[in-house]
Amino acid sequence: MSKPRILVTRKIFPEVIARLSQHFDVEANQDDVLWSDAELIERLRDKDGALTTGTQAINAALLAACAKLRIVSNMTVGYNNFDVAAMTAAGVLGTNTPDVLTETTADFGFALLMATARRVTESEHYLRAGKWTRWSYDMFAGAEVHGSTLGILGMGRIGQGIAKRGAHGFGMKVIYHNRSRLTPELEAECKASYVSRDELLAEADHLVLVLPYTPESHHAIGSAEIARMKPTATLINIARGGIVDDAALAEALMDRRIAGAGLDVFEGEPKVQPGLLQVPNVVLTPHIASATVKTRLKMAHLAADNLIAYLEGREPITPVNPAVARNDPGSAARS
Ligand code: DGY
Repeated sequence: MSKPRILVTRKIFPEVIARLSQHFDVEANQDDVLWSDAELIERLRDKDGALTTGTQAINAALLAACAKLRIVSNMTVGYNNFDVAAMTAAGVLGTNTPDVLTETTADFGFALLMATARRVTESEHYLRAGKWTRWSYDMFAGAEVHGSTLGILGMGRIGQGIAKRGAHGFGMKVIYHNRSRLTPELEAECKASYVSRDELLAEADHLVLVLPYTPESHHAIGSAEIARMKPTATLINIARGGIVDDAALAEALMDRRIAGAGLDVFEGEPKVQPGLLQVPNVVLTPHIASATVKTRLKMAHLAADNLIAYLEGREPITPVNPAVARNDPGSAARS
C-alpha cells in the first residue's frame, strides 16, 4: 500500500521532516520558498495532508481544487488562516498546537510588557547612538510594573499564564475581560477579577491582548478604545495583527495619548504600519512570542503527531473541527 502524501509548506526542523518521512511520502519546502496561492494549490492537489505554519490561507477555493486533501495541521495555536466552516463542509480536518506553547508565550508577553513599561529598547537605542553622556533623574523614567493593575483581554490559557505571572510574581492587581467568565477556582488560581470591557480599558495600567482574531475581534482596539485608556497606560499585543487598528495606535502613540505599546503581531505582517516605525515609545518584535527552540520543536512534533494519527486512522490529538474526525472512519478505511 502506498504511503499517504503530505506537503510541508514552510521550512521546519529537519528531524521532524525525517520523522514524517517514516510515515508519509513528503514534499518539504526546506528552501522556504514563499509560494503564491496558485503554487500552493498546485502542490497540494495530489496530497492527503499538509503541515502549515499559519500563514497559508486554507479557504474554499483551495479546498475545491484539492479534493484529496483530508487534513491541514497548523504548527500554531492560532488558526485564523483556516476557513473552518469551509474546511468542515469539505470534510477537511484542521488541527493546531495548543498547550505546548502556553508558558513560553506567556513569558514573552511579560517580557514585552516589561520592556515597554521600562522603556528598554528605546533606552538601548539611545545608548547605542552614543547619546548617553550623563545620568539624569528622569532619563527614561517609565511606568511601574510591580503593584500596578494588569488588564488582560482574552483569558484563555495564555491569558491565564500572564495573569499568574503578574499576580504571583509582581504583586499586580489582575483584571480581565473575556467572552466567558472563568470558574471561581480558575479566578482564584490567577488571582484575577472579571470586569466589563469598559472597566478593563479604563483601569488597566498595562493592557495585554491575548484574544483570538475573528471577524468580531477585528480592530477591537482602535481610537475609541485607546481614548478610554489612561494616558500613562501601555498596550501589549501578542495575539494577532488586525485586533489593533495599527494606524490609530501609531497616531495615539505619537500624540502620547497612551504611554507606550509593545507589539509582536501586526496588521498585514510582515509589513509594519509605517507610523509605528517612526514613534519611539513602542517595542516591536517580529511575531516571536512562542519562539524558543524547545517550544517550536514541541509545536512541530505536535503538528506531525496530528498528521500521523489522523492519516493512519486514529483520533487527531488537537482538532479544531472535531466533527470532521468523528464523521470520518479514518484513512485505513479510505485508502
Ligand atoms: C501561534 O502559535 O499562534 C503563534 O502566534 C505563532 O504563529
